[in-house]
This record gives sequence, C-alpha cells and structure tokens, in this order.
Amino acid sequence: MPLMEPYRIKVVEPIPITTRDERERALERAGYNVFNLRADEVTIDLLSDSGTGAVSAAQEAAAAAGDESYAGARSFFRFRDVVSDLTGYPHILPVHQGRAGERILFSALLGAGQISISNTHFDTTRANVELLGAEARDLPTPEAKDLDSLAPFKGNIDLAALEHVLTGEEGSKVGVVIMTITNNGGGGQPVSMANLKWASLLCRRHGVPLILDAARFAENAWLVTRRETEYANHSPKEVAQLAFELADGCVASLKKDGIAPMGAFIGLRDPELASRCEMLLIATEGFRTYGGLAGHELDRLAQGLREVLDPHYLRAREETAAYLAQLAADGGVDVVQPPGVHALYLNAGRLLKHVPPHRFPGHALACQLYLDGGIRCAELGSLYLGTLNEQHELVEPAPYELVRLALPRRVYTQSHMEYVAEVLAAIAKHPERVPGYRIVEAPPILRHFNSRVEPIPVEN
Ligand code: F0G
Repeated sequence: MPLMEPYRIKVVEPIPITTRDERERALERAGYNVFNLRADEVTIDLLSDSGTGAVSAAQEAAAAAGDESYAGARSFFRFRDVVSDLTGYPHILPVHQGRAGERILFSALLGAGQISISNTHFDTTRANVELLGAEARDLPTPEAKDLDSLAPFKGNIDLAALEHVLTGEEGSKVGVVIMTITNNGGGGQPVSMANLKWASLLCRRHGVPLILDAARFAENAWLVTRRETEYANHSPKEVAQLAFELADGCVASLKKDGIAPMGAFIGLRDPELASRCEMLLIATEGFRTYGGLAGHELDRLAQGLREVLDPHYLRAREETAAYLAQLAADGGVDVVQPPGVHALYLNAGRLLKHVPPHRFPGHALACQLYLDGGIRCAELGSLYLGTLNEQHELVEPAPYELVRLALPRRVYTQSHMEYVAEVLAAIAKHPERVPGYRIVEAPPILRHFNSRVEPIPVEN
C-alpha cells in the first residue's frame, strides 16, 4: 500500500495562526528566547518530541481504568508486565520522568572522581553525572563528525576509544557505560546491534555495568531493522528485546516512545543495586508501585508501549522525517545525514555563512523560523554548547551550528511538514537578510532555557 499515517484523527486542537506583527512583539518580549514564548503564540511547535505526542483512544480507555491505590495498584502491575516483557529486567521502578531516573540510578552507581562513558550523554544525563562530582565523557564514533556522510549508524560509541579507557590507567574509575539509543545529542542517529554487542562484551570483560538510555528504544529498533541486514526480518519488538538483553539495565524516559505526556522507569537486573535505587525512589519520588506517577498515567504508558512498536506507525514516522529532509534539501537547506526519526537537525552554520559563530547562526535560524512562520524549534550550536567568558562573549564555539526540528508523535500531518519546508525554503532564498544575535543576559548554567539575546545587524 502507498504510505500514509496509519491512524485517523478523532479529537483535534486548533493551532494558533498569528500575524507577523504579533510574532515580532512576542519574540521581543521573550528576549529572543523561544523557551519564553507562550504556546499559544506558536503555530507549529517542534521544540521537543518529549511529552508532546498524541494519545490514542485505547490509551484513554486504559487510563479510565487507572487504579489510584497508594500501594499495589492494578495499574502498576499492568505497567510492569508490559515493561518486563519488553526488557526482561526483574526490577522495574517507575519514576515521573527520565531525569528523575538518572538522578536515582547515578546516585546509587557513581561517586565523586568516577567516570561515566557514553556514546553521547543527553544534557540532563550529563548534569546528573556532574552533580555527583563524576565526569561525563562522550566517545561518539568518529563517523559522526561528518554531518553529510550517509553512514547508517552514526550514533555508535567509539569502541576502540572505549576499550582504551577501560584497559588504561583510568579503567578502574569507570563506574558506568551509558548507551543512548537513539543518540539524541549526536544528531538523532541510531546505534547498531553490532556496536551494542561489542560495548556489552567490553563492559562485561571489565566488570562495568552497561546501562541503556532507552528514551527512543523503539525508533532505534526500527532503524536497526532497516539498516542492519542481519535484523531485516526481525520485528522492532524483537530487536528492542535483544538490545535490552545486552545491557545490565536501563533508564528510559517514556515521554518519547511511551507516547504519553509524562513517565519513565528504571529497569535493573542486579537486586542489590535495585534495592538501593528503591530507597531513593521512595524518599524522593514515591512508593515503588507508583514512583511519582498516577495510576492512570501508568496505564496510558503501558498501552503506549504496545502501540509504539507497531511497524506501520514506525515506518510512517521514519518516512515523515525523510520527506521533510528531502523538502528541506530541495529548498537549499542541508540536514544532518542520514535523517533519523525523532528530529531533523538543520545545518544552520552552512546556511547562514554570513553569521559567524559568535553571532549564533543556529539561534538566528531558529528565531527566523518563528518570525517568518510561527515555527518553534531549538538551537544546538554555540549559544547552547559554546564556551562563554564573563562578558558573555563566545570564546570557544560549538563544533557545529545546528537547529533541531523535533517531530512530536502522531501530532502533525504531511501538510504541516510542507508548511515548515516552505518557510525554510523562503529563508534559504535570502539567507543574508537573517541577522545575528548578541547575548544580553545569561545564567551560568542551563543557559539555553534562561538567556536573553538581541538581534544585531550583521557585520561585514
Ligand atoms: N535521555 C534522552 C536521550 C533524552 O532525549 C531526554 C529528554 C532525557 C534522557 C530526559 O528525559 O525529559 O523525561 O527527563 N529529552 C527531551 C528532548 C527533553 O527534547 O530531547 P526527561
């Protein structure tokens, strides 16, 4: 059958249509930081795919049966059965969102002076490692450096570099290896099963726990079935199960592949580690059978986890990203290749050549997408990742100037994607009219959420 979204729409929400004048005033009031916009000032919201998916009728029906008992709720057992079947882990601890899981798991696993190694730590993952006085070290595959290369698994970890650390002087300091699937901080690229197998072998050989950051486990599994020949005849669920089998545990934000507004879990094999986590869970999130979530949320998640592994849904989602990538390319905008599933990463540095890194080309493109089309998205460039001095001047740029267009699940249609591509193409026709930006105010940490900037004419 020709490709289409494999669902029809039953409940709708109007999206705000604004004038240029309204958007200019809104962005100025927001200090040119899209995190400060009100959602009703945004027409197409591609800021995040987290907690922004559309729930199904079956999820709402499941939620209606939610059991809100303080302890031992039926909802917990329904949730646990789905998660255990998927992961095979005997210990399942619900938490309210991914970063709560990270805080609890790392507090039980890591101490000051230790090292956490990852293909790429997500920013909250890195923050939770660093808050414990430990070091978060990223070892992405060298292939990831070439944004244009079509290599299929640019989310992999650099196995030689991992082995080098594990066998070297610092080996005894490594407290955990975290594989982020798919690699959100690394352009949304997938991790191959072969890479995961080798990482698992190295970890076992050196007695280091391997943990999956499984926020987008279903999308990674789908891309494995598409790109790794050995798994072409596996179902996404089978691949996901094999991936969880290779690790000692996981922490998974379910705001992505649980297709629900809130939720996450920690899954573990080791009973001793699980009981340390459980203590922290009860003290800071909630009793072990709800962990900061309502019963109806656990039921919505259990059903979402069944739906997310549907190959028709995953295929349509992959094709949507590929379609938008193609339209962007046709309009003259390069994206990080190959396109993944949950987001497209636009190469703003290449598009806005006249805006130097210290004038934040990624941020400039993100602001322009809002001004021209009411589209909200996030910069992943020097404003977010560069090093600033005390006067808020850029002293070391980020390696790339990117903009992430995150794709909420089951929310926008093909014509919304065409709208985004049209706005983008119009910018690409006259890139020289896009101004750069200067920082007015920036807090020392979590800069991208709270900084205020202002446009300045481009210097020649
Ligand atoms: N790990 C990954 C790979 C993530 O992408 C996120 C969140 C988290 C952990 C934290 O989970 O939000 O439930 O606490 N990513 C969102 C994003 C915020 O927009 O990419 P959380």
